[in-house]
Amino acid sequence: MQNFTFANPVKIIFGKGTVSRLGPEAAKAGRKALLVYGGGSIKKNGVYEALTAALKQNGVAFVEHAGVKPNPVLSHAREGIKKARENGCDLVVAAGGGSVIDESKAIAAGVKYGGEVWDFFCGKADIKEALPLFTVLTLPATGSEMNNGCVVTNEEKKQKYSAHGAALFPKASIMDPETTMSLPRTQVANGAVDSIAHLIESYFTTSDRDVTVTDEIVHALARSVIASTDRILKDPSDYSARASMMWSATLALNGLAGCGYSGTSFPNHVIEHSLSALYDIAHGAGLAIVMPAWFKYHLEKSGPERFEKFGAAVFGVKGAEAAIKAFEDFFRKAGAPVRLSEAHIPAADIPRIAENAMGLITMWGMSLKQAEVEEILKRAA
Ligand code: NZQ
Ligand code: ZN
Repeated sequence: MQNFTFANPVKIIFGKGTVSRLGPEAAKAGRKALLVYGGGSIKKNGVYEALTAALKQNGVAFVEHAGVKPNPVLSHAREGIKKARENGCDLVVAAGGGSVIDESKAIAAGVKYGGEVWDFFCGKADIKEALPLFTVLTLPATGSEMNNGCVVTNEEKKQKYSAHGAALFPKASIMDPETTMSLPRTQVANGAVDSIAHLIESYFTTSDRDVTVTDEIVHALARSVIASTDRILKDPSDYSARASMMWSATLALNGLAGCGYSGTSFPNHVIEHSLSALYDIAHGAGLAIVMPAWFKYHLEKSGPERFEKFGAAVFGVKGAEAAIKAFEDFFRKAGAPVRLSEAHIPAADIPRIAENAMGLITMWGMSLKQAEVEEILKRAA
């Protein structure tokens, strides 16, 4: 087990009826919020009403920045920065899924920066400060509500890149599992796949494989995601399953599930971001395609040991091939595509996808070669 530093300052307010508690939290940080949301799901499930009432009651004025799209784009983040500056906003409130929270992070940092916000994503500048950010999470998946990363697509350059910085941690995040009951099944599936992806990347790539505590945290969270998803798909109104799913997804990418590992990387994510950048595919769907292919490739390269351990602990199966099949069966059962063709992406595009992935591979300092990415993707054809 390697030395590590774990610091996570995000205040989590979890449970039924908690959306209104964002009001007093926001009021501690400022007087005027940029209220960021997506295509309108929050207006249908009651979040908008509860949230805006709470802001008003606590004396926090707000300016709306709606229309964040899934796989948020740079141009819309730039508009948000402009709006926040013009209106003198001194805090940002995000209400929605990972896309809304991520764009909000980019805006929060962009407002405080003299240059072009994309500088943070392409390695030209470090994030030193940001407006205080508060979130109401409505989709368990990304962990963005409790981490310091954000992902934005530069739609002109077809680059889906990430930015990180301690200033991006939300000050407080509201997690009311009831807000997730309006999620369509596809988003339930995407969220489940993404959470599993966050758990397996470090688990399978760590060079230190003697970290029992973190291995067991990963196993437990993966079992919880899988069991909760099964229950949610059977009964979308199952509160306890919604609650377990929501907290599991957060814990999967808040830093906890990687403590003590070393030399980890995110190969599935780096390839998926190329799929999202080129085809605007949902992140979870892209991961469900990449992961089984990467598993097959990784098994050939690194041997069966981790697959056997994970398969036995999480799926109750014996052997590496059985573990890979169990992953794929789960993704399929949840309703996610598991081959490029199922997402209507032609195998002939593989070189182009791999070439696009090289940008982020370089940014993230990974050793993966273009030919290797092509080899992996061939297994997804
Ligand atoms: O836009 P609205 O109308 O809100 O609808 C959204 C959107 O269409 C809908 N939705 C969200 N909550 C809902 C709901 N519909 C009904 N009821 C609800 N309660 O779901 C759709 C997808 O939302 P989105 O935010 O795009 O999904 P997700 O949370 O999966 O976020 C994906 C984005 O996060 C990035 C991904 O790459 C992708 O861009 N990631 C961010 C990470 C991070 N910051 O740490 C890590 C991840 O690995 C990931 O890369
Ligand atoms: Zn992810």
